[in-house]
Amino acid sequence: MIELKDITKIYGSKAKATTALKDLNLTVEQGEIFGVIGHSGAGKSTLIRCINLLERPSSGEVWVGGRNLTSLGKRELQLQRRRIGMIFQHFNLLSSATVYDNIAFPLKLAGVDKAAVKSKVEELLKLVGLEAHSGKYPSQLSGGQKQRVGIARALANDPDVLLCDEATSALDPQTTDSILKLLLDINRKLGLTILLITHEMHVIQSICDRVAVIHAGGIVEQGPVAEVFLKPKHPVTKEFISREVAGSAPAQLQAQGTGTAGEGQAQGSPVYRLTCLGDHTYSTDLSEAVLRTGVQFAILQGTVSTIKEIPYSQLTVRFTGQPEAVELTVNRLRERHIDVEVIG
Ligand SMILES: Nc1ncnc2c1ncn2[C@@H]1O[C@H](COP(=O)(O)OP(=O)(O)OP(=O)(O)O)[C@@H](O)[C@H]1O
Ligand SMILES: [Mg+2]
Repeated sequence: MIELKDITKIYGSKAKATTALKDLNLTVEQGEIFGVIGHSGAGKSTLIRCINLLERPSSGEVWVGGRNLTSLGKRELQLQRRRIGMIFQHFNLLSSATVYDNIAFPLKLAGVDKAAVKSKVEELLKLVGLEAHSGKYPSQLSGGQKQRVGIARALANDPDVLLCDEATSALDPQTTDSILKLLLDINRKLGLTILLITHEMHVIQSICDRVAVIHAGGIVEQGPVAEVFLKPKHPVTKEFISREVAGSAPAQLQAQGTGTAGEGQAQGSPVYRLTCLGDHTYSTDLSEAVLRTGVQFAILQGTVSTIKEIPYSQLTVRFTGQPEAVELTVNRLRERHIDVEVIG
């Protein structure tokens, strides 16, 4: 659906040249919610702006819906751009126009007649839950309401793709969640492909199907969110996730986690990370696994949460007992499809 082929983007020239993207390849499938996460300056905005050619790549091809946008003339590109909606961190609404007129704007530009504009705007107001606010100006709205207007405006020409550039970064956590829920609803209702960029793992975890991690202008890791989130490989990915999940890990545990346990109690008592995904999350597997083995466990750290509505848990535990009994326990856990990893 969206394909970036060997995209390089260099800003400026000669001594002042900055390479923002380097030989970047990315494929987003039709109907999925794809997240790109990266630190400030990693190239996220450049990446998303290259998709609708708000920025023209220095080299490489951009394909959307089977068309090579980089090869199109001005007029044809203008038409193809209507297939791509975009929302922004700071909403970019027309401050002197009402909610209604903001949403109607792209329709009028496309030459839609007045009656059709009215029915479409009303449909969109309903979709984003702003029926009661159509006559208000942006300054009379909350941040979340402004982003709802942004979303309605982006959907006006029935696009196939919605690009979101840090769409929730200016919002408080509760409003962020309501906007993410709206995006998920729209994705499911309309089958819209969504590409979003963010520096918050929480956004990815809430609604994305797949994620790519961008660093210094290139993709360093990508895959289904559960895979990347629960088994990160690249140091940048690990850093994002540790901030989300293990930010509260006590220093003592971190020392043990690196295998440098200085505490007598931990000597010979291995530390494991147990990961469950799906229905197993709320099971009694752990207590069943230690039953009659004489093994005891201490939970050193733990998370029970969801990845796009699918429950998961990740526990760091220390088992104490006879080595054979600990091994039996670990085997029992693995038989129950719990991922067991020795971390110290
Ligand atoms: N118009 C521009 N002219 C020159 N350099 C630019 C321009 N836009 C971005 N850059 C540079 O390109 C690199 C990538 O910038 P980009 O805005 O894509 O990063 P980002 O990941 O979106 O960061 P942030 O999270 O801060 O928004 C940075 O080094 C930035 O300074
Ligand atoms: Mg940016």
